[in-house]
Amino acid sequence: MPNIQQAMVLQDHGFKSFAVIGFPIQHSLSPTIHQAFAKQFQTSIRYEVLSIEPAAFEKTLSQLKNFGGLNISLPYKIPMYHWVSKLTARAKFSKSVNSVTFFADGTTLGDNTDGAGLISDLQHRVRLHLSGANVLILGAGGAARGITAGLLDAGVAQIRILNRTSEHVLQLCQQFNQPNILAFDPYSDHQFDLIIHATSAGVLNAPLALDLKFLENFKGCFYDINYGEGAAKLKSCLPRHLNYVDGLGMLVEQAALSYQSWHSVMPNTAIVIKALAKSFNSRY
Ligand code: ATR
Repeated sequence: MPNIQQAMVLQDHGFKSFAVIGFPIQHSLSPTIHQAFAKQFQTSIRYEVLSIEPAAFEKTLSQLKNFGGLNISLPYKIPMYHWVSKLTARAKFSKSVNSVTFFADGTTLGDNTDGAGLISDLQHRVRLHLSGANVLILGAGGAARGITAGLLDAGVAQIRILNRTSEHVLQLCQQFNQPNILAFDPYSDHQFDLIIHATSAGVLNAPLALDLKFLENFKGCFYDINYGEGAAKLKSCLPRHLNYVDGLGMLVEQAALSYQSWHSVMPNTAIVIKALAKSFNSRY
């Protein structure tokens, strides 16, 4: 993984670099995915992984203005919403940014492709019918916000939110201010068609601090936005009967939408998901 200085030297020599930023971020698949996309168009790109400590967030970003674009991982999706100079409609709606484009005049455009990426994977790989569905989201951070916006767009009937901290559920519900986005009520007999795990517990390698006893009776699809080791760990703690799908497809789909906005061409995602699914033991 290059450090920030090395990445800066490359951009000073006229290479337009792209990168994913986060903390922790070491094991990101984003470079592999973006290089696979570039190969489809016989082009060559530079795509780095930049680990940025929270205390250095603002200072480092101000040094990256010659980059072509950035993908944003945790914990920066919400801070990035406040940092960029302009927002797409879906980033504005979700108040969360997972993709940034830098322009020659020094301005930056924040987008959120998480929701559209998830919906694309649910429709094409998982083949779920989302219109009118009742959905539960586990988590209320930056990823959950992007996903909430995508699900609303896809016409789901209701979204419930369950999170470790109830204050963040309230913030998310207030932010969207829609009658069909509500907190999970442990005393209600909710019937869900789809449950989406969107906490960062897997990436942080921490046990999931949520009581999921209600999953014993759940018959719908459980979609985990994690893939690989984090996904395997969570899956091993869940009831065996669950129709479990990992988030490899969402990762590739959201990356493809960023790639499209930076390079003006849309990659073939199915080929990349299929190739990676073998290594990550994911369902295709
Ligand atoms: P991301 O961009 O991945 O959403 P984030 O904005 O930092 O990252 O949000 C992380 C989410 O994961 C939050 O909902 C957080 O819960 P809190 O709001 O209570 O902080 C949730 N989370 C993190 N670690 C968790 C754990 N071990 N168990 C359950 N939820 C966890």
